[in-house]
Amino acid sequence: MKIRLAALLLMASALYAQGNRWWAWPADPEPQAAERGRVDFSRHCAECHAANATGTKQGPNLIRSALVRHDRDGSAIAAVVRSGRKGMPPVGLSDDSMKDVIAWVQWAVQKYDRVSPGPPPDDYPVERLLTGNAEAGKQFFQGAGKCGTCHSATGDLAGIARKYPPVFLQSRFLMPRATKPRTVTVTLSSGERVSGDLKTLNTYDVVLQDAAGKTHAFVADEVKVEVNDPLAAHRELLPKYTDADVHNLFAYLWTLQ
Ligand code: HEC
Ligand code: HEC
Repeated sequence: MKIRLAALLLMASALYAQGNRWWAWPADPEPQAAERGRVDFSRHCAECHAANATGTKQGPNLIRSALVRHDRDGSAIAAVVRSGRKGMPPVGLSDDSMKDVIAWVQWAVQKYDRVSPGPPPDDYPVERLLTGNAEAGKQFFQGAGKCGTCHSATGDLAGIARKYPPVFLQSRFLMPRATKPRTVTVTLSSGERVSGDLKTLNTYDVVLQDAAGKTHAFVADEVKVEVNDPLAAHRELLPKYTDADVHNLFAYLWTLQ
């Protein structure tokens, strides 16, 4: 029991650390898979995204794509390829071929974006990032992105562009750090309810800390669990942004000096 709990805690803290990385890097792809994928990519995708995935007039740069960068397991890329997008027809690939193409895209991010893997330096010139349209970003903020339901350009986000260096700002709005923890309400079979800050949640255990600082642990499938995640909206937005949305939003946020 002790060992299982320790392993779970380790796993949870690893996930936590990953979630808080301010710049997400795709998984390290296997070189052979990437090489096979390069061939399939040039056949099915290069026409619009260019052979090195940096984009053409017909399709966006995938190396700078937020979706690609945050897609550690390739599922978001696969979803776009299977269902298509406006301007991109669905592309039918076998499962193996899909894996290879994803490996190649992830490899290309590392190869063409910069010499060594890792986040861009803090002083990465803002001109390189400012390719979007601030007015379109403002419209997305108030409209489709629903950012205005939680934020205000003259309230909590006033001066946001001065708060972080440009590369930080770009990743912070994609996946911010929460100042408040996730909270949870657990309902026992007796009807009793216990609420507090969520400490652990997985298939087996729910652990929370109540307002008095006391820790409560439950077996997950014996109770009803309702999680309130302040960053739920940001998590849901992540796979929905188009590349243009991200660049436009960044250009708009940059005007909030
Ligand atoms: C006929 C042109 C065309 C082809 C072929 C094509 N794409 Fe696209 N792709 C696009 C366009 C246009 C978009 C942007 C759509 C939008 O704005 O939402 C896009 C978007 C994407 C995105 C989402 C990027 C983002 O940040 O939102 C991914 C990932 C992607 N394509 C991967 C691929 C892969 C992999 C292939 C080959 C298997 C492929 N595409 C083939 C035109 C194409
Ligand atoms: C349902 C509410 C909600 C929506 C919708 C939402 N956010 Fe957030 N946002 C948050 C929360 C919560 C935080 C974390 C900061 C905190 O806990 O105060 C945050 C943080 C941020 C930050 C970092 C602020 C800082 O000072 O570090 C930026 C920038 C941001 N959001 C931009 C956006 C943009 C742009 C959109 C729309 C595309 C958006 N948000 C949509 C709730 C929301």
